[in-house]
Amino acid sequence: CGIVGYIGHREAYPIIIKGLKRLEYRGYDSAGLILYDGNDLKLSKTKGKVSDLEEISKEITTNGTIGMGHTRWATHGVPNDVNSHPHLSNSGNLAIIHNGIIENYEPLKKELIKRGYIFHSDTDTEVLVNLIEEVQKKEKLKLGKAVQVALNQVVGAYAICVFDKQNPDEIVVARLGSPLAIGVGENEYFIASDASPFIEYTSNAIYLEDEEMAIVRMHKPLKIRKIKDDSLVDPYIQELQMNLEQIEKGGYDHFMLKEIYEQPNVIKDTYRGRLHANKGLIQMAGIEDNLEKFLNADRILIVACGTSWHAGLVAEYIIEEFARIPVEVEYASEFRYRNPIINKNDVVIAISQSGETADTLAAIKLSKEKGAFVFGVCNVVGSSISRETHAGAYTHAGPEIGVASTKAFTTQITVLTMIALRLAKAKGTLSNSDFHRYLQELELIPEKVAEALTTNDKAKEIAAKFKDAPNCLYLGRGYNFPVALEGALKLKEISYIHAEGYPAAEMKHGPIALIDEHMPVVVIAPKQGHYDKVVSNIQEIKSRSGKIIAVVTKGDTQVRELADYVIEIPNTSDALSPLLTTIPLQLLSYHIAVMRGCNVDQPRNLAKSVTVE
Ligand code: G6P
Repeated sequence: CGIVGYIGHREAYPIIIKGLKRLEYRGYDSAGLILYDGNDLKLSKTKGKVSDLEEISKEITTNGTIGMGHTRWATHGVPNDVNSHPHLSNSGNLAIIHNGIIENYEPLKKELIKRGYIFHSDTDTEVLVNLIEEVQKKEKLKLGKAVQVALNQVVGAYAICVFDKQNPDEIVVARLGSPLAIGVGENEYFIASDASPFIEYTSNAIYLEDEEMAIVRMHKPLKIRKIKDDSLVDPYIQELQMNLEQIEKGGYDHFMLKEIYEQPNVIKDTYRGRLHANKGLIQMAGIEDNLEKFLNADRILIVACGTSWHAGLVAEYIIEEFARIPVEVEYASEFRYRNPIINKNDVVIAISQSGETADTLAAIKLSKEKGAFVFGVCNVVGSSISRETHAGAYTHAGPEIGVASTKAFTTQITVLTMIALRLAKAKGTLSNSDFHRYLQELELIPEKVAEALTTNDKAKEIAAKFKDAPNCLYLGRGYNFPVALEGALKLKEISYIHAEGYPAAEMKHGPIALIDEHMPVVVIAPKQGHYDKVVSNIQEIKSRSGKIIAVVTKGDTQVRELADYVIEIPNTSDALSPLLTTIPLQLLSYHIAVMRGCNVDQPRNLAKSVTVE
């Protein structure tokens, strides 16, 4: 979920609406806002998107210089009007917006019902706001104290904003496990899940740490306290690096397309200052400072979710091949709950675009408890994961707003490839000439990605043919097996076509049964790597009348004879090929989704940043 709050001298309504739109990547099942107009609270909320909220808000007076808003990704309770945030306490004095989950809400709710509280929604959030009210009444506390006492009874994760109309010059905020940033302006404060809602107003931000709360007061300096022991914390104000242009569409129809096209530039940003092909050097501060840890590692464990997990799979192949260190890749959600074996000599790499994914964060904490060294590969600067890890490397892809991840994936692979090369250099596991060749090839990747983007028209043409297919199979081998998984994920995420990725050779052990003349099969078959083997797999599909869409190296003739459609990408070495083969697959799913009339940037049921487990 995304939260926005404002307290100051401007009209809060437009700030909240615009802010919520920027945070819709965090969820868009329902939306709501509350304003304080100097006398009373004005609430409006609805199932649907922020644009729906805007529509219904016309019915309320939208003036007021204090307010808070919410865009929701449902956890407890279906997305409907009643379950949308904000929620009010029984007296109607307190309003809350909440991102996260209160795990022990049931016993708390029972207790509150016993005391006469009535609940209108199925949410855990309504329990929290009434708990705060109960504490406030029983112990005669001011809002800040009451929130603190209530939070100490709560198990779960949260970022909350609470407002009390009896004391209307403050908003109380708190965080545990879900991000919360406070923008500090002149006589005004902004509150949000990330800084994007307030970058045009201030470049000064404070990021609350876990278990911290703040009372945000008009005309008063901000006070931050630890929720557990009430100790004061010095606010650390950060200068923001984000700019407005980065979070706007810049002429593209969708953020996803813009982000696909940004890849040549952002891959360059990723290796800038780190890759020096002419000097035969790779320098990444996080690696240099901890080189011994990597070199002495018994193995590397990679934890991640979704697309980042796919980048982890590519990294497994590259690190093992180049640096000869054993690598295991695991879904963070599985890892954290299965009592994994983690040793002091393990290095854990956590990969996350947002740096906020709850399962990945929990896997990191577990690894740290067991004494492992944890290295983060994140995109969002200052994110929870980047702060929770011992060291790390940012991908520098800039804000990724489309829910389907594109540029984050290729920049993650770029970072992980550089790590593999740096370790190989230190270990001497690659010959000098191979090391230099890879450096030079990596440097050329942005140009080649730009060339791969010229397949856009071809991808569009193929999309038109297959847009109504109910299923689709993606096959690849070696480095391109994870690309097949990622290609299938992209298609199902945004077009709702069922798609599966498979190692090409494994097809004959099951999925081959699905192949008939209606089944499109996307085969990744670049010239380097296991080309001949993939050609045999293509023949197996052809002899069962499957429709073959092949991604091949420019100039290929053999596959062209067999496939129904071919998409050509530039030549590069096997290990770097995922950076190129991914591109036409992104474009293909983009065009299919557009042709099917799907909401490309905000596919149903998904959220970009999943801060609940
Ligand atoms: C969500 C997104 C995916 C993303 C995954 C992991 O499910 O919809 O696109 O790959 O989370 O996110 P992270 O920010 O940790 O990379």
